[in-house]
Amino acid sequence: MNILILGSGGREHTFAYQLAKSKRCENLFVAPGNAGTAAIATNINLSVTDFAAIEKCVLDHKIHMVVVGPEDPLVLGIVDYFAETASLKDVQIIGPSKKGAHLEGSKQRAKEFMLAHAIPTAGYASFTSETLAAGRLFLETLKAPYVLKADGLAAGKGVLIIQDLEEAKEALAEMVGGKFGAASNTVVIEEFLDGIELSVFVLTDGKNYKVLPTAKDYKRIDEGDKGLNTGGMGAISPVPFVDDVLMQKIEQRIVKPTVSGLQKENIDYKGFIFIGLIKVGDEPFVIEYNVRMGDPETEVVLPRIKTDLVAVLEATFKQNLDALHFEIDPKAAATIMLVSGGYPEAYEKGKTITGLEDVSESIVFHAGTALKENNVVTNGGRVIAVTSMDADYKKAIKKSYQSIAKLSFDRMNFRTDIGFDL
Ligand code: AMP
Ligand code: GLY
Repeated sequence: MNILILGSGGREHTFAYQLAKSKRCENLFVAPGNAGTAAIATNINLSVTDFAAIEKCVLDHKIHMVVVGPEDPLVLGIVDYFAETASLKDVQIIGPSKKGAHLEGSKQRAKEFMLAHAIPTAGYASFTSETLAAGRLFLETLKAPYVLKADGLAAGKGVLIIQDLEEAKEALAEMVGGKFGAASNTVVIEEFLDGIELSVFVLTDGKNYKVLPTAKDYKRIDEGDKGLNTGGMGAISPVPFVDDVLMQKIEQRIVKPTVSGLQKENIDYKGFIFIGLIKVGDEPFVIEYNVRMGDPETEVVLPRIKTDLVAVLEATFKQNLDALHFEIDPKAAATIMLVSGGYPEAYEKGKTITGLEDVSESIVFHAGTALKENNVVTNGGRVIAVTSMDADYKKAIKKSYQSIAKLSFDRMNFRTDIGFDL
């Protein structure tokens, strides 16, 4: 097969790495890709939301399968575009339809879906500028802290957690007044759930599903989970505190009703579901759906899947997942993200990265990297994810830190405490 991956982060390099291992993968393309994908595939410079350019690329390179990394093209309807275009309709595109992607594109929609299918989640109500007064009154009925979420996509920045009631009321007014642009025209106010977070990944063909490894990511920039939110500073898989009893609850109460809910609502969904959960006491609650894999969660989830990834994705497209023999590596995986100094605020690009060829015990997944005159240079906030596998997560984390000691670039930063809370 000729395969095209859309995206340019560590997630996409990991997909490329796993797909390139398959005997079934003939030519591999990544658009736009990074310096890591350039070493194992052909990069194509196009925008992941330019459907006409993607169509041309698919036809020019006789692509049989397309894996969509980020959410934007999914929310904009790339899967529907393929289904409705005669020359593309047989291409095996992995991802939900626009209607399915709405579960990530709108927090209000996700809450309504969970309510309709009795999936455990925090109590909520949503408000707009017209109902601001009611929103203020609703906040008064809740206990601190107050959770305010922009309904639409806001690059991971649209959730505010505020201790003070008056501040929360102010923030609500600012949000419906355009703080996050159109994304916060509607604001979802939620009951605060006090517990520990984890993520569960599911691959569904629309009828059947496979539960993929669990993962936990570390979102804050500073040690001890302090400081600004980032795209993710590290992750481990599996999540050590998830035992069989909790997994049973997650599958019965959350995964099954989610997949059957999609079916009941006639939503075409052949792709990944990333379910963000909070465990409150011993009970799992959904905090969000993402309609794609996570980054850096992919860097620890995919390396643990032993089954040929081309076969897995083909079974997804052909709705044969029930017949697929699916094997997960019992070893643990950990990834540590190396970021540019200053990230998640302003940072510089173009710094030469050294030591890449010296790493042998870990896999180096490139995120924000580029090639400049045969050197690998930084090209983003999150630069490299260093993944290791070992008997348990502590050993895997240690291995990644040993590999990181060999790598450097100007103002390289990373968290030294991934896994500290476990
Ligand atoms: P979300 O974008 O919905 O995943 O929210 C971003 C982050 O806010 C989550 O990863 C949680 O840490 C936190 N969060 C979201 N909703 C809640 C909630 N209802 N209770 C407590 N924390 C929450
Ligand atoms: N690491 C969080 C995400 O991919 O959304």
